Amino acid sequence: MGISIFRAGFSVLVILGFVVCDLGVCNGGFTSGYVRNDYVASDMPLDSDVFKPPPGRNAAQQVHITQGDLEGKSVIISWVTPEKPGSNRVVYWAENSPIRNKAEGSVVSYKYFNYTSGFIHHCTIENLEYDTKYFYVIGFGSLTRRFWFITPPKIGPDVPYTFGVIGDLGQTYDSNKTLTHYESNPTKGQAMLFVGDLSYADRYPFHDNTRWDTWGRFVERSAAYQPWIWTAGNHELDYAPDIGETEPFKPFLHLYRVPYNALDGSSPLWYSIKRASAHIIVLSSYSSYVKSSPQYKWLQSELPRVNRDQTPWLIVLMHTPMYSSYVHHYMEGESMRVVFEPWFVNYKVDVVFAGHVHAYERSERVSNIAYNIVNGLCSPMRNQDAPVYITIGDGGNSEGLVTEMTEPQPRYSAYREASFGHATLDIKNRTHAYFAWHRNQDEYSVEADALWLHNRQWIASKLAKSAPVSHLSSAA
Ligand SMILES: [Fe+2]
Repeated sequence: MGISIFRAGFSVLVILGFVVCDLGVCNGGFTSGYVRNDYVASDMPLDSDVFKPPPGRNAAQQVHITQGDLEGKSVIISWVTPEKPGSNRVVYWAENSPIRNKAEGSVVSYKYFNYTSGFIHHCTIENLEYDTKYFYVIGFGSLTRRFWFITPPKIGPDVPYTFGVIGDLGQTYDSNKTLTHYESNPTKGQAMLFVGDLSYADRYPFHDNTRWDTWGRFVERSAAYQPWIWTAGNHELDYAPDIGETEPFKPFLHLYRVPYNALDGSSPLWYSIKRASAHIIVLSSYSSYVKSSPQYKWLQSELPRVNRDQTPWLIVLMHTPMYSSYVHHYMEGESMRVVFEPWFVNYKVDVVFAGHVHAYERSERVSNIAYNIVNGLCSPMRNQDAPVYITIGDGGNSEGLVTEMTEPQPRYSAYREASFGHATLDIKNRTHAYFAWHRNQDEYSVEADALWLHNRQWIASKLAKSAPVSHLSSAA
C-alpha cells in the first residue's frame, strides 16, 4: 500500500515536472560547472620566444596564407619584411615535382599614428592541383625561408574535410595554450575558420601597431602552413579619430588579404569561399547590413548561388553572435539577427560560428522569425531549418573570460561554459559532420562538448518524404 502511494506520488511529480518544463519555467540546456582559474591573463612579453623574429636581417616574417580564390585552387601568401622591400617572389613546387614555379607579389605599407609598418607582401599563386602538398620559399640566400601547405581536395558533396575554429585569440599565455591545443588536437584541422578579433593591438596606447607584428609572428607557426579564413571583429576596426586615424580596418586590411571579388559585390570584409564540401560565407558585423547596403545586397545574391548539390555544408562566420546568453555583449547581434536570420532559415544554413563573447556556447536549432507583433511569438522557437549557433570567442585574449550568464539558462542555449578553447568541425560526407569543442585545461584529445550535425539540406529532403519530427534528439 505504502509503495503504491509512493509510486502514484512519484508519477504525479514526474507529470508536473513535464508540465512545468513545457511552460518554459525550466532552464534550457546545460551550464557547465567546470571550475577554472578566474583571472585575466596579460599579454606575453615582447621578448617571448613565440614573438622572436626569424634569424637574418630583414628576413620574411609574419608569414600567413589564406585561400586565394573561390574554389581552392589558389593561395594568397603574405609576409612582412621589416626594413626593406626585399624579394617579392615566391618559388613553389608540388612535392616530388622537379618543376619550380615562380610568382611575383605586390608590396604595401601603411602608417598608423606614430607607427610605420614594414613592407607587407601579398603573392597569389594560382592553378594549383587539388589535394597536393606544395612547398614554397620566400627570400633568397641566407634569408631563405621554406614552408609548405596542402591544397584541399576537389570540391564535391561527399568530400571529407576538417576545419579548426578559433576566435578572439589575442596574444596572452592563454592564446598560446589555445593555439598549442589546436596544433596538438588529434583531430587535425586542415584550415582555420577564424571568427575575428586577432591581435588586440588596439588595447595598447595609440593602438600600438607593433602588437600587430608580434601577433603575426605568433600565429605564423600555424598560419604559414594552413589557410586561415579571416573574419573582421571590432578589434580590427582601429578607428581612433582622437589620434587622427579615421580609416576603419586599416592595419587589418593591409596585413590580411582575402579572396573577395568586387565584381560580385563581395568585399574584403564580406565574401565567400568553397572548400571541399563546404560553402563558407564570411560576414562583417561592423559594416552596414541594413536593407540595400552593399553587404545586404551581396548576401541576398550570394545565398541563391550556393549549390548544395556541390557543397552541401553551408557555414556562416561572423564576429558578433546572434544568439548568446552571456551578460557581456548581451543582444549586440540582435540587429543583424533581425535582418539576416530569415535568410539563414530559408536557405538552411547548417552552422553559424561567431566570437566576440569570450566564452563558449552552443545553441539549439532555433529561430525567432515568426513574430508579427500580434501573434505573441516573440521568443526563439525550435526550428529544424535553423542553424546551430556557436559562440567561440574563447581564444584567450587579454580581456579575459566573461563568466556572468543570464539566468535561468534560456531554452535556446544548449551548452555554455566560460573556458578558453578551440573547436574542430570534421565533415564526414554530405550528411554528417562532427563538431567538438576543446577547453585548454584538458588533455588534447578531450572533447568538452560535441555534437553530430546532420546536414540541413539533406535532412530537409529526408523529412519531406517522411512524417515530421516533433522534437530534437542529441544530434542536430
Ligand atoms: Fe569582439
